[in-house]
Amino acid sequence: MDSTPYFAEWPEIRSQIAPNAVQEQQIEQILAQLSLQEKLGQMLQPNLTDVTPQEVTEYKLGSLLNGGGSWPGNDKYAPVEAWVEAAEQYYQANEAAWQGRGFRIPFIWGSDAVHGHNNVFRATIFPHNIGLGAAQDVDLIRRIGVATSAEVAATGIDWTFAPTVATPRDYRWGRVYEGYSEDSGLVYHYAAAMVEGIQGDTEQLAGERRVVATAKHFIGDGGTEHGVDRGINRYSEEQLLNIHGLGYVSALNAGVQAVMASFNSWDHNNNYAPSNIDCQYNGKIHGSRYLLSDVLKDKMGFDGLVISDWNGHSEVSGSSMQDARHTVNAGVDVLMVTARSDWKACLTNLQRDVEAGLIDESRIDDAVRRILRVKLRAGLWDKPSPQQREYANQPQLLGSDAHQQLAREAVRKSLVMLKNNQSLLPLSPNQAVLLTGSGADSISKQCGGWSLSWQGDDIAVSDFPGAQTLDCALTGYLGEQLIRDEAQAPKGCVAVVVIGEQSYAEMYGDIKAGQTLDFSSLHPSNNQDAQTIARLSAAGHPVVTVMFSGRPLYCTDLINHSQAFVAAWLPGTQGGGIVDVLFRDHQEQVQHDFQGRLSFSWPAQKDAFALNHPATHIPGFTSPANEIDSREQAALFPLGFGLSYQSAQETPRLELDSREFAIDVAEYVLFGREAQISHPLSLALQSQPRAVMLPGCSPLDVAGSHIEPINYQHQYDARAVQAQEPFELTLEVLPGLMPLPWESGKALEFCIDVKLEQAPQAPVWVELELMGWGQYRFDISEQLQQADGQWHSIRVALDDSLRSLEVNNKVWRLRCEDAAHIAFSNISLVLAD
Ligand code: BGC
Ligand code: BGC
Repeated sequence: MDSTPYFAEWPEIRSQIAPNAVQEQQIEQILAQLSLQEKLGQMLQPNLTDVTPQEVTEYKLGSLLNGGGSWPGNDKYAPVEAWVEAAEQYYQANEAAWQGRGFRIPFIWGSDAVHGHNNVFRATIFPHNIGLGAAQDVDLIRRIGVATSAEVAATGIDWTFAPTVATPRDYRWGRVYEGYSEDSGLVYHYAAAMVEGIQGDTEQLAGERRVVATAKHFIGDGGTEHGVDRGINRYSEEQLLNIHGLGYVSALNAGVQAVMASFNSWDHNNNYAPSNIDCQYNGKIHGSRYLLSDVLKDKMGFDGLVISDWNGHSEVSGSSMQDARHTVNAGVDVLMVTARSDWKACLTNLQRDVEAGLIDESRIDDAVRRILRVKLRAGLWDKPSPQQREYANQPQLLGSDAHQQLAREAVRKSLVMLKNNQSLLPLSPNQAVLLTGSGADSISKQCGGWSLSWQGDDIAVSDFPGAQTLDCALTGYLGEQLIRDEAQAPKGCVAVVVIGEQSYAEMYGDIKAGQTLDFSSLHPSNNQDAQTIARLSAAGHPVVTVMFSGRPLYCTDLINHSQAFVAAWLPGTQGGGIVDVLFRDHQEQVQHDFQGRLSFSWPAQKDAFALNHPATHIPGFTSPANEIDSREQAALFPLGFGLSYQSAQETPRLELDSREFAIDVAEYVLFGREAQISHPLSLALQSQPRAVMLPGCSPLDVAGSHIEPINYQHQYDARAVQAQEPFELTLEVLPGLMPLPWESGKALEFCIDVKLEQAPQAPVWVELELMGWGQYRFDISEQLQQADGQWHSIRVALDDSLRSLEVNNKVWRLRCEDAAHIAFSNISLVLAD
């Protein structure tokens, strides 16, 4: 692979898919004939479950998506024909919308084909990107792009939200596996190859076999503080570009037609950030005109479209689910507004904002030009309707033998052998083998998230016809030699123990505050597997551990107890690819050697968060020497490490990190000094219903009302609100979810410290908004009486129905139905004794 480029500033891209004068003219002709409403219709993208073909006709919507776990007819097993039929219905509904106009704008459907066309039953499931990164094979990536594109086209869909070109730097992030590598150089080379595979060149993109690709999530998603999904990235602009931006540079050069904005923020309070950055909208990339418009579109010269992430507009301060003004003004062209009531309201509100001059119509025109350009380049004016397309009528393309073989090749190449003492591997198929461990027959652990369902935690082997867990693959290969019951295993026979993380996707997969990277501590089944390995090894069985995981994890104890250890990442449905490498053939010949090399360094310490340092692998970076040292110290196996049958090597006993970390999640502080991250607050007044953000610790005046930071137990650990009218204060919890140990059976209490200077004469509500369960609210007026003129701690026992909940953003709101002067601090959720 060529060397990694280094950029002193955002480079101008040279896209393979060049502007075309004829198309540009067509775009202008169409644009000139569109009403404002029609333009906005192009910009809105609902989810499949929340839009009917009739609504596409009525609202002239330009696109739709099917999010993770959304299928036609809500049928997980919808066959190819059902996908094509659904695509046909939306296509025709859109055609009807333009009838009699003398021109038409075609419809487009987008899907997350992130490791194969993974939302679709019978599609080929490739290893997740982390495994592809380990394969270190650019050509393989291109071929997977071509195959995936063909499967997407086979369902009548024209657009995929892939590749993810993140450079994950903190293994606590639950999306590490969606990234190819912590090394931006590898990401750079892979991103271009994947885009070329998916889209092809200008001619191929316009043809029927390829689809539009999306580079996501722009920008900095892999570098958030504490590895928090949707969290805060505090990198300097130089680091943002050279660590998190290289994938965009190469994807854009390769002609990628869409870029998805990221949920994360780029912190403006950080001393790194240059002063010209418009960070008034809590730093959320969705609200950053600087990054989306000035950098991506103007400096880099990207002429395709920018799409928002799933309701990402609502996370920009001053916005709501139904108000996307800031996101549009920042430069987003297509808005994923997924729910019916929200996209309808967004259409109305955007129209109102344009008419009121709050959004310039030229911004809307820019968005529509880009959408039309991408649709033109994708050949959508010429492609027949989905039913009539050559490739959409070939169900056998989905999960074809050739694609399954390619997936199996990818599995083989992605395996990284970390240890192989006394050349235990490759194993002979002519000997008894004990197969055990929670991952041995688990398609969920083997595939991970974004596999037919969103989190991938509710899937079974039967959901993937032709899929092979390692157990299925070995059943055929070893026949009678395969033993599953430990008690039946002959003395000294080899044990293959398959372990793995529970499946997860975004938000749910984050390793939360208070937890470490210690594999055994993360889930009871991990701990059981660890005990199995120790037990079998103590009983004299040579142990081969195969680990499925979405990230490298601390497991030195397990490695020590294993004679051979293989990191298999999230290989997908082709378990046979593991057998191809681990086992000799029946003539005792080696079938395939290990090709995989670590694309992420492997942690030596449970709290090896130092691996998240920005300052590595980038020529031209200067950084304090101790940062680099701590990164190297923290790695048990460095980036690029991987053994092969050629390189026989004995691994000595590795030093354990025997420190105990208390897992303290009995209390989750939302606001106050103990809060891990200071969540932004926003204020909405009766006369000013658009919420206004309170940036950090600065005071804020709006319409005669005032908020300021005050001292309670510590400096600036409280806020005082003096409101002249009814108001709402909202805590926008950026870092996604935080689990509490609900299964402990203890009661959950909501706690807040308050002090009243002027009591309101109307109810004061606390509202908790909890992921998936909507709102829970209670009136605290009575308890507030004791807070008159003095600080008082309020504790409210929450309803039992709240067990098993996880906290999501905008978690806490204080709604006061009268003017008031009130101070508060220490907001938390606590498990009571
Ligand atoms: C959807 C996903 C989406 C997620 C975001 C889920 O319900 O299925 O596609 O990414 O919500 O919150
Ligand atoms: C994810 C994206 C995905 C989108 C649509 C979001 O929640 O962050 O990666 O493309 O949902 O499913």
